[in-house]
Amino acid sequence: MNITNTPSHVAIIMDGNGRWAEKKGYPRSIGHIKGTRVAKKIILECSDLNIKTLVLYAFSTENWLRPKDEVNLLLRILERYLKKETDNLIKKNIRFSCIGELNRLPPSILKSIDEASEKTQNCTGLHLVFALSYGSRIEITEACRHIGEKIKSGELEPHEITPELFSQHLMTPHGFEPDLIIRTSGEQRLSNFLLWQAAYSELYFSPTLWPEFSKEELYKALKSYSQRQRRFGLVTTKSPTATSASF
Ligand code: FPP
Repeated sequence: MNITNTPSHVAIIMDGNGRWAEKKGYPRSIGHIKGTRVAKKIILECSDLNIKTLVLYAFSTENWLRPKDEVNLLLRILERYLKKETDNLIKKNIRFSCIGELNRLPPSILKSIDEASEKTQNCTGLHLVFALSYGSRIEITEACRHIGEKIKSGELEPHEITPELFSQHLMTPHGFEPDLIIRTSGEQRLSNFLLWQAAYSELYFSPTLWPEFSKEELYKALKSYSQRQRRFGLVTTKSPTATSASF
């Protein structure tokens, strides 16, 4: 692929597994299984493209409310992926970690997460992050609570709260800000995903259902990103100032 200006940090809301399965007359589980194969390919593609960070929204806080069978299946899929793929991640120099309310996860998946994170901790290529049992509102609420406790104990003064300090209390490190967020399946919303971190992210909505997402679709998103002008609230062209413009 010959695209200049590749984003270094990409996040993906992998949506549409269920609709894909229903469209084909399959149970939803088949959609998730096919979706996992696609996730594997996209991870390797991002690694080959020298993207620095890839965040996959694998399981949201709201997903806990799905039928128990579906929740169990999704968690089993993720556990299996980690068990089967950790050696391949190491071979590809991919570092793995997770964000989310991990204490809600069953012990066996927590163990797989810890093992995969530990075994890949010295890898220097792509940083692959699964957002698992993750929701921005909880993340932000927890950050507020933590800061509140520090104020109560005298460790912090209210005037010391800045965006930088706040971001240090999130589940992601300071500066963890996706350049590009892709959402599949035609839905155009963030659904409680990286709300703070997405302040200046470019958004790309693909009509393709996740199980049909491909390398070519990823390139389309990257191409769209490469053609955008990011201003971060600043101006890049000279335009008349308010005083000289006629109202
Ligand atoms: C959204 O589709 C997808 C999910 C809730 C789960 C995403 C998880 C995977 C693709 C498996 C991930 C595996 C790895 C290895 C990262 P949906 O069920 O909400 O689809 P619908 O909106 O059509 O019902």
